Amino acid sequence: MERVMERVAFGSVLLVCLMSGASALLHTANPHSVCKSCDPQPASCKSYQCIANCSVSKVCPSPDDVCAAVWWRENGVVTVETMCHDPMQPLYGVTLDDFSSSDCVLTVRYVNRSYLRLCACTGRECNEHMLLNKPDNDSELVILHASETKGAFRLPQLCKFCDIESTACNATGVCESSCNITAICENPAEVCVSAWRRNKGNAIIETVCHNPALPFHGQYLTDYNNSICQMKQVKGMEEDFYICSCNEEECNEQLFFTYFSAPPGDGKKNLPPVLLVSLLPGLIAVVVLLSAFYCYHVFHQQNLKAPKTKGIDSETCAIIMSVDDRSDSSSANANSLNHNTELLPIQLDVIVGKGRFAEVYRAKLKQGATDESFQTVAVKIFPYDEYASWKTEWEIFSDAELRNENVLQFLTAEDRKAERCYWLITAYHERGNLQEFLTQHVIGWDELCRLGGSLARGVAHLHGDRTPCGRAKAPIVHRDLKSVNVLVKADLSCCLCDFGLSLRLDNSMSPEELANSGQVGTARYMAPEVLESRMDLENIESFKQADVYSMALVLWEITSRCSAIGDVREYEPPFGKLKDHLCVESMKDDVIRDRLRPEIPASWSNHTGVQLLSSSIEECWDHDPEARLTAQCIVERISEISSAVISSVSSDDKSAQDSGNDEK
Ligand code: ADE
Repeated sequence: MERVMERVAFGSVLLVCLMSGASALLHTANPHSVCKSCDPQPASCKSYQCIANCSVSKVCPSPDDVCAAVWWRENGVVTVETMCHDPMQPLYGVTLDDFSSSDCVLTVRYVNRSYLRLCACTGRECNEHMLLNKPDNDSELVILHASETKGAFRLPQLCKFCDIESTACNATGVCESSCNITAICENPAEVCVSAWRRNKGNAIIETVCHNPALPFHGQYLTDYNNSICQMKQVKGMEEDFYICSCNEEECNEQLFFTYFSAPPGDGKKNLPPVLLVSLLPGLIAVVVLLSAFYCYHVFHQQNLKAPKTKGIDSETCAIIMSVDDRSDSSSANANSLNHNTELLPIQLDVIVGKGRFAEVYRAKLKQGATDESFQTVAVKIFPYDEYASWKTEWEIFSDAELRNENVLQFLTAEDRKAERCYWLITAYHERGNLQEFLTQHVIGWDELCRLGGSLARGVAHLHGDRTPCGRAKAPIVHRDLKSVNVLVKADLSCCLCDFGLSLRLDNSMSPEELANSGQVGTARYMAPEVLESRMDLENIESFKQADVYSMALVLWEITSRCSAIGDVREYEPPFGKLKDHLCVESMKDDVIRDRLRPEIPASWSNHTGVQLLSSSIEECWDHDPEARLTAQCIVERISEISSAVISSVSSDDKSAQDSGNDEK
């Protein structure tokens, strides 16, 4: 009996062991996350990182849970709440889509009329450390750390941010902005800015965060190191316009229209009037001297340039180079930096585009003594910390052999030291980018061939190793082809722009450089092998094949707005709605797992040309990069299809005419 009891006991122990072993195995297969889990408490922040200081770790209740953190700042104190969180559920009303990374990268969200930063991540206690902004690349990290060691590091500023609101303030004395929204500025370089203006009789105030390296309403901010917002009138605007900027928390709330009338106890950065009076004669002398110098300089420049600068599309580039006294094209292009002493007389107009690294303005390049004589140009402005992107794009443009009617025409580059930013000056195209154009226009078959053919010619020229005249040229890959990076010219042909991610595939690229140039671009337009980071980086053809995939998506966008097939749908970018932000992970599901491509509706076979073009588009977005057509091949296809369809239309017309004649 005892033996029987012993066996039963042994058997049950074994069973328990087996069961717990099985459950442990199950746990390894689908482990529950372990996350920091603390109620809101002060966190410590340094450089771009914050540490939650949370001593409680928790095994999350559900295997689907990831780690999350919520970050906010009140009166300068950073508070963080950490938790396990099911990413399918909203957190503070916000759905967190980026949770697979092991870094908890905080993104700003506007919740209940205030700004929070939230992040989610996957990995043991990954919510203990939070990154305030994801640095774009290592060099940015280095810069941040370098500035931190110099004590120059700043956390993003807190500013009033209501954009535009009407106000009772009549631009006298001290006014309250009355904005009750406080934002953590996106970028630590940003300062607080307010603008007051009278628009059709109504006074309005604009409160925002703004990077002083970039112009605000066409003006550079000069007072952004102030602790208070001292309003200054901007001359030459159509309406009464005042701007102020400052660099302390929420300092753009109180607006000082009267000079030297800082609130009690806050006069720290203002000069006392007595000091100003004593400095006045000296200041006047400096102003007079500077004006004299400026007049001389402008006069001198006009003498150099005015007779020559006729039109961009004729000779401007050569002229700018000749001013620099560089007649040989290769050296001219390699050095077409317009040094500070020779800045072009350019007046910025309105912003026409905003990219990853820079903003693009329409601008006036003055041509003579009067304001009436000017050439419209585009100015792409990079803040000082985007030096690398400016340099990449400038180097690409500096290749004289890049010049082609289907590539944006480059004029010059400028290091605008005084304004702490870099400029690229190019031709301006009134019709804007292809995405804007397609959103607003339905096109016919001829326009489809013109837009599509010129796009393909631009890409083929970029990829080619010879110019049309047969000179040797380094192949270039764009790596961010999309309809936003294609401009529509006045004659409805296209030109490529935004070469910030481009690569020159010449022998100067080391294997390491090639190996480090993996996944870049815009997720929506990324080829499957780029999404998967499985490109053959040693083969330059594979970079071109990835460009051809993206070009196919743009050709599909153009075709989708062509009325030759009958009714045309509203413009939609490839893979869905314009506003949706598509991340790499979801694109991988669509493009690789489900092999999804943009829809080619049955109606596209109503028109022979559109049908033939769609087959070529499909060949360009083949899953197998090697099976894709080359850009040069698609140039030839479009040209063949367009002449075949023209001749078939005219022969149809002819037979219709003939039969009409027969009937007579
Ligand atoms: N958007 C970006 N670059 C442009 C340019 N050169 N002309 C017009 N719009 C633009």
